[in-house]
Amino acid sequence: MLTEVTATRYVTPLREGGSLPGIVEADDLGTYVVKFTGAGQGRKTLVAEVVCGQLARRLGLRIPELVTVQLDPVIGLGEPDQEVQELLKASGGLNLGMDYLPGSIGFDPLAYEVGPAEAGRVVWFDALINNVDRSWRNPNMLVWHGDLWLIDHGATMIWHHNWPGAAASAAKPYDASDHALAPFRPDVAAAAAELAPLVTEELLTEVTAEVPDEWLVDEPGFDSTDEVRRAYVAALLSRAAGIHERITLNEPSKPRPSQAPGWLAARLPVTGAGTGTEGAGA
Ligand SMILES: Nc1ncnc2c1ncn2[C@@H]1O[C@H](COP(=O)(O)OP(=O)(O)OP(=O)(O)O)[C@@H](O)[C@H]1O
Ligand SMILES: [Mg+2]
Repeated sequence: MLTEVTATRYVTPLREGGSLPGIVEADDLGTYVVKFTGAGQGRKTLVAEVVCGQLARRLGLRIPELVTVQLDPVIGLGEPDQEVQELLKASGGLNLGMDYLPGSIGFDPLAYEVGPAEAGRVVWFDALINNVDRSWRNPNMLVWHGDLWLIDHGATMIWHHNWPGAAASAAKPYDASDHALAPFRPDVAAAAAELAPLVTEELLTEVTAEVPDEWLVDEPGFDSTDEVRRAYVAALLSRAAGIHERITLNEPSKPRPSQAPGWLAARLPVTGAGTGTEGAGA
């Protein structure tokens, strides 16, 4: 299970995040970037953060610690910002926290070199989870103490938005042409040889067990939360086996009008919206 902490103070919103994540202090004296259950993107974003984040960690990729954050909306009462107040009011109960990396900077391909082995591991992992949100427009990676850290796995596993079509969707290829690490000659074959054998039913069962029940309950078409967990396991397990052969790496696209679906467009930063092809591989 993820460690559970209790929010003690709402510090500030992170305006660059489409879902209005906020920096929150907790009773363990930790500081977290919190994604709220009351945000427009809904609880599936949080499920994706846990499943993909904890899977990444077990595969040896760098990702800040995840916790669940118990929130009493009363901590937002003094918030001057109406939007933040509404969000906190709608987010009582469990939310998702990610350890805040103080002093980290957003990944910039011109300022930070990544080797083909590491780039390959990240691209292969993103293909596995069908991450459409790690493009050069919005890399969702941080550099901290000289290392590359992965964040923001909310826009992944598109198949969980339509379970009846999940098997077909999970079988689709992955276009990594616009991936933020595409220029670093990612060695996806080596990454697949190393990582695919690790993605076992047992590992995925362990990872999905960490998703809080309340984010899975009453999923249409399922009788229990464990049945939902098994659906995540099945989709990822089948995808792990051969996805590296279906990753395409062509010339990156030029900016053009967004073709992202509405639920994703709302997550894109203002500067990226209207220019993206982030729907790649979806
Ligand atoms: N653990 C962290 N430590 C430090 N800064 C962080 C951390 N997590 C997120 N941030 C900062 O907050 C911003 C928003 O976070 P994140 O990308 O997870 O939110 P989001 O709402 O899903 O964003 P978007 O959909 O716009 O990419 C990041 O771009 C980064 O600058
Ligand atoms: Mg982001």
